[in-house]
Amino acid sequence: MKFIVDSADIGQIREAYEYLVCEGVTTNPSILAKSGRNPYEVLKEIRAFIGKDADLHVQVISTDYDGIMAEAEKIASVLGKNTFIKVPVTKVGLKAIKALKAKGYGITATAIYTSAQAYLAAQAGADFVAPYVNRIYDIGNDGVAVVEQIQNILDAGNYKTKVLAASFKNVGQVTAMAEIGAYSATVQPEVLWKLINNPTVDAAVEAFKKDFETLTAKGKTMLDV
Ligand code: G3P
Repeated sequence: MKFIVDSADIGQIREAYEYLVCEGVTTNPSILAKSGRNPYEVLKEIRAFIGKDADLHVQVISTDYDGIMAEAEKIASVLGKNTFIKVPVTKVGLKAIKALKAKGYGITATAIYTSAQAYLAAQAGADFVAPYVNRIYDIGNDGVAVVEQIQNILDAGNYKTKVLAASFKNVGQVTAMAEIGAYSATVQPEVLWKLINNPTVDAAVEAFKKDFETLTAKGKTMLDV
């Protein structure tokens, strides 16, 4: 499962790329708002860091067809061809996805809470569908099961569309995506480090070090013996 960073904080993105294998960055209007800066200034900085060939996902704000189309054109022209235009899957959004695909844009169909939305987005030609796992739980449904249904629909229909699972609040939700065989997942830094931060592991590593020091001396390693 490809791992994408869900952030517009360049420091957090750099840290994720330093320690992990990351294959792109996703943003949304709420994430961009947290930066308090001009969105294009932030996005250009991210693009420069990840490189022109990496996937960058940027969402439109408009809710009308003409507005979505115009925003898509500006986003792609400023940020390059490997920028996927995130379009929320509404009735108007589907019309825009269909038209944008015909013009050759890369599309991430977002704000997906149901398998029906994902099915229609795949039919419209979206490259990615982004189901919101945790937010689906928030409204009383089973987020992992919905992604499993979506994956089955995509497989059964032989769609080229891939899952880009989003919205996670805990480690189990993320690893469940890998288990299902989701193509990719985008994870916010707050949740991302929970995948590896584990006091039990740290304690084990510390105990190994101390045991070795009883054989040698404090601070000694395999370089010193
Ligand atoms: O890209 C969508 C994702 O960031 C939503 O996450 O945590 O706001 O539900 P969240």
